[in-house]
Amino acid sequence: MVKIAFFETKDYDKAAFAPYEKAGETEFIFFETKLTEMTADLAKGCDAVCVFVNDNVSAAVIDKLYEYGVKIIALRCAGFNNVDVRHAYGKIHVVRVPAYSPYAVAEHTMALLLTSIRRIHKAYIRTRDFNFSLNGMTGFDLHGKTVGVVGTGRIGRVFIDICRGFGMNVIAYDAFPAADSGINYVSLDELFEKSDIISLHCPLTDDTRHMINAEAIEKMKKGVVILNTSRGALIDADALLDGIKARKVGAACLDVYEEEAALFFEDRSGHILNDERLARLISMPNVIVTSHQAFLTAEALNNIAETTMSNIRSYYENNGICDNELCYCDGRIDTLKKDRKEKCF
Ligand code: NAI
Repeated sequence: MVKIAFFETKDYDKAAFAPYEKAGETEFIFFETKLTEMTADLAKGCDAVCVFVNDNVSAAVIDKLYEYGVKIIALRCAGFNNVDVRHAYGKIHVVRVPAYSPYAVAEHTMALLLTSIRRIHKAYIRTRDFNFSLNGMTGFDLHGKTVGVVGTGRIGRVFIDICRGFGMNVIAYDAFPAADSGINYVSLDELFEKSDIISLHCPLTDDTRHMINAEAIEKMKKGVVILNTSRGALIDADALLDGIKARKVGAACLDVYEEEAALFFEDRSGHILNDERLARLISMPNVIVTSHQAFLTAEALNNIAETTMSNIRSYYENNGICDNELCYCDGRIDTLKKDRKEKCF
């Protein structure tokens, strides 16, 4: 019997995973709380823990889980900046879902962009109040505009295809440009200088933290639209606020926020928001915030559940060999290894 503790779960997670629970083979225990040092005890007696983007899988948490006999940490997501993979090496295997629907995230990014620049969010509220005025609703054509895409992996590339469908001129920056991709790569500075719209699709690392800061915004075109459906800390939110107040940034669409862990995924409508910066951002007429929702499609949830269960099964049925393992070896985290022939450790 493989016992799995799921942290940070909602009804839609339970519904997606329920078909994979097999009597006599697996037992699922769902917790609404996030995994933290304080809640790690809940995993006592479990073989695996399944976590999401805002669970805090620090070195201290890993040590506790290891002590309790947990063998696998299975991420139900692609990003792994919240897991100390290096500390887990040699103790607990860490697996993830590298791709579940790049379309879900790329399509949400375009939905945010169109909503923002065509004022759909305002029109929805106006017409419900029988206000049919068009004052203040002027947008702009996407056709012919330059979009700068930072990170041309799975999601970035789908977003590029969508933008090309709109007749946009696409330029891109990637620390590891894809050869023969037909993508017009430029330097990050050139991307900042030339883009009418900038969309972030790279992971959060020490190199990318606050890549959109005051200095970067200074280089951008007046009226630039900034889209972030990747990770909140790619943007220095104070610098973004300053850029908006100075009328330099024309609009921002944020599905992620640096301090989201304490806020997102919960109904806080009856509470006083004690994050002044987020409250100010949300109050801006040209800012749209969604609460880390870009992944949330039926297709993505099914793919997440299927891949997560197959990742966990591989530990028991495939001699511990899993292509989706985040294997810290040779001084770096190997995410790319395909057709692994041996265990990570
Ligand atoms: P991917 O791994 O396929 O692509 C990431 C790309 O970023 C790669 O081409 C890589 O070379 C590039 N990159 C790495 N370091 C870079 C740097 N310093 N500067 C510029 N580019 C760099 O990842 P994928 O699947 O496209 O996901 C991208 C990000 O989207 C994830 O890291 C995750 O943070 C975020 N995400 C957000 C979701 C949401 O619901 N909002 C859902 C899924 C992912």
